[in-house]
Amino acid sequence: MLKRINELKQEIETATASSVDEVDALRIRYISKKGSVNQLFAEFKNVPNEEKKAVGKALNDLKNFALEKINSLRDSFESKGTDATGTDLTRPGEPLKLGTRHPLSLVKNEIISIFGRLGFTVAEGPEIEDDWHVFSALNFPPEHPARDMQDTFFIEKDPDVLLRTHTSSVQIRVMERTQPPIRAIFPGRVFRNEAISARSHCIFHQVEGLYVDENVSFADLKQTLLYFAKELFGEDTQIRLRPSYFPFTEPSAEMDVSCSICGGKGCNVCKYTGWLEILGCGMVDPNVLESCNIDSQKYTGFAFGMGIERIAMLRYGIKDIRHFFENDIRFLKQFESAI
Ligand code: DAH
Repeated sequence: MLKRINELKQEIETATASSVDEVDALRIRYISKKGSVNQLFAEFKNVPNEEKKAVGKALNDLKNFALEKINSLRDSFESKGTDATGTDLTRPGEPLKLGTRHPLSLVKNEIISIFGRLGFTVAEGPEIEDDWHVFSALNFPPEHPARDMQDTFFIEKDPDVLLRTHTSSVQIRVMERTQPPIRAIFPGRVFRNEAISARSHCIFHQVEGLYVDENVSFADLKQTLLYFAKELFGEDTQIRLRPSYFPFTEPSAEMDVSCSICGGKGCNVCKYTGWLEILGCGMVDPNVLESCNIDSQKYTGFAFGMGIERIAMLRYGIKDIRHFFENDIRFLKQFESAI
């Protein structure tokens, strides 16, 4: 009997299983009711009395040994969570890489947030526009070069369908449907028939701003833009307004900010002037207000417009505008931490 117990023990010791099902087969074979260990137990009554003590102990040891062996085989599968092919199902999955926000979105959102703190809301308008909203209502004379095919994308069939060349068109759309007070900014994509180079692209983005109410003055414009420049480029930033011309504003100006890279001392980014031009602005021309049925005797307003790419290029030191549109992951993922 002892010999059979030992043989069975050796057999169990060398047993292996490559799946949970095989472990279960071993359990049935050895320790189920009809299993070989229990069969030995059934024969225990035939063991001579003087051997009963030793055989009984050996049998119990065998039973425990078999139980442990089968449990540990089962554990080796269950704790690892492997499936039938041995794949460990409990291992953490490959994390999905989160995308990063586009640098143009980062800058746009920052601009929206700065003007939001001054009470400006956000509105949008269509990219496919008509002559009225892009030119006529904005006081462009009929022979203005922007109306030329050289600068603007028209469709052949109908010269009144065009891609907007600036977000100033949204000013008109908003003023047509709302009476003052109006205080809003209009971010969006614009299109110009220009050759693509490091400095210019045929598709780019602008943010337009508009404030119309009673008694809005140039001083309001200047203070609003100073606050904006300081928020965007830092507290020490200074601004300067240079007289300029736009058909839709009178007077008009271009705004420069002190160069944030050299602090105004002069460097190659500001071309050694200490200043960077970032936007156009002015007091809304009364003709524009009247085109939208807003009483220009009662109301005045200011407007401004800036290019998002230009600001993002200054902000992040990007030298080529084409990077924004190429979707090169090596470029885009540099802005991960900027979210
Ligand atoms: N629309 C002009 C452009 O695309 C930018 C601009 C200049 C907008 C002066 C304005 C403004 O609102 O007052 O270049």
